[in-house]
Amino acid sequence: MILAVSLNSAMDRTVVLPGRLAPGEIQRARSVDVRMGGKGLNVAWAAARLGAKVSVTGFAGGLTGRFLREECARHGIRDGLVTTAGESRACYMFASADGSPPTVVNEPGPTVSFAEVDALVATYTSLVCEASLVVLSGSLPPGAPADIYRRMIEIARRAGVHCILDSSGEPLREGIAANPWLIKPNADEFAALTGGPWQSPEALRRRCRDLTATGVANVVVSLGGEGALVTAGDQCWHVQPPSVQTANPTACGDIFVAGVAVRIDRGEPLLEGIRLGTACAAANAAHPVPYLPTPAELGFLLAGVNIRAD
Ligand SMILES: Nc1ncnc2c1ncn2[C@@H]1O[C@H](COP(=O)(O)OP(=O)(O)OP(=O)(O)O)[C@@H](O)[C@H]1O
Ligand SMILES: [Mg+2]
Repeated sequence: MILAVSLNSAMDRTVVLPGRLAPGEIQRARSVDVRMGGKGLNVAWAAARLGAKVSVTGFAGGLTGRFLREECARHGIRDGLVTTAGESRACYMFASADGSPPTVVNEPGPTVSFAEVDALVATYTSLVCEASLVVLSGSLPPGAPADIYRRMIEIARRAGVHCILDSSGEPLREGIAANPWLIKPNADEFAALTGGPWQSPEALRRRCRDLTATGVANVVVSLGGEGALVTAGDQCWHVQPPSVQTANPTACGDIFVAGVAVRIDRGEPLLEGIRLGTACAAANAAHPVPYLPTPAELGFLLAGVNIRAD
């Protein structure tokens, strides 16, 4: 069972307007898509849809929290969410039917208390014992300590369970200190972690190998439509995704991580996970809201993933 950790859970509302969002105007929305979101819940959703057994822990509060729990139940995800006194956040994307760029509004979410963090760590510790793989995704809610991923990775290690960490900034840096089995920063996140933009592909490979030498077994730097650089020990591969008409690359990283997790959880090799993640993320990039390919689409997309040793 994959245990997905969603500390910054959200309800995602994608609102399509007839025209550009403008101050002082009233508009009638053409359509609304409402779903559970935040990176951890995106991973849980995608992994469950790809056929894995999934449990989730993290924070959920208020009416939005009830919605998130109902969505978990609807998708067959075991609910280990911890209730917070504050209302879980909502994130809005206002897209316009005329093709102008969308406006995104992300609520900060409630500040979690010490007691809520303690309850979360206790719930996590018991769920880890039943998990075969842990995925820790996203930023932290206000009030959560910056070293919480580090602590969670150490707890998983004591239980003999591998962790995938997909975060940024301080929580990523702290988490790396506990040597997760795999990290998946995107290019900006990896540059921020390793001292700024790299000047050449060789420099990027060197930075990845430096990290694997310190004890992170696998470093996967995702490069949007350019694919990903995968480093395992001192071996590197460049992964080229199938080419698609891009509609909205939001959540590509989460869908990619879910694909990797599903294959790893089944005991398959890392590159098979990377192949599934890359194929599913390409399908997602081609759709306006989070999307997983149909079996027929998946066969076609998997054949279009190109992995070469670098
Ligand atoms: N335009 C695209 N076409 C095909 N594949 C894409 C495209 N954009 C992203 N992908 C795939 O998704 C993977 C992850 O994308 P990206 O680097 O944008 O992640 P991210 O920035 O972490 O995303 P997020 O955090 O919003 O989920 C890439 O490695 C690639 O395989
Ligand atoms: Mg990401």
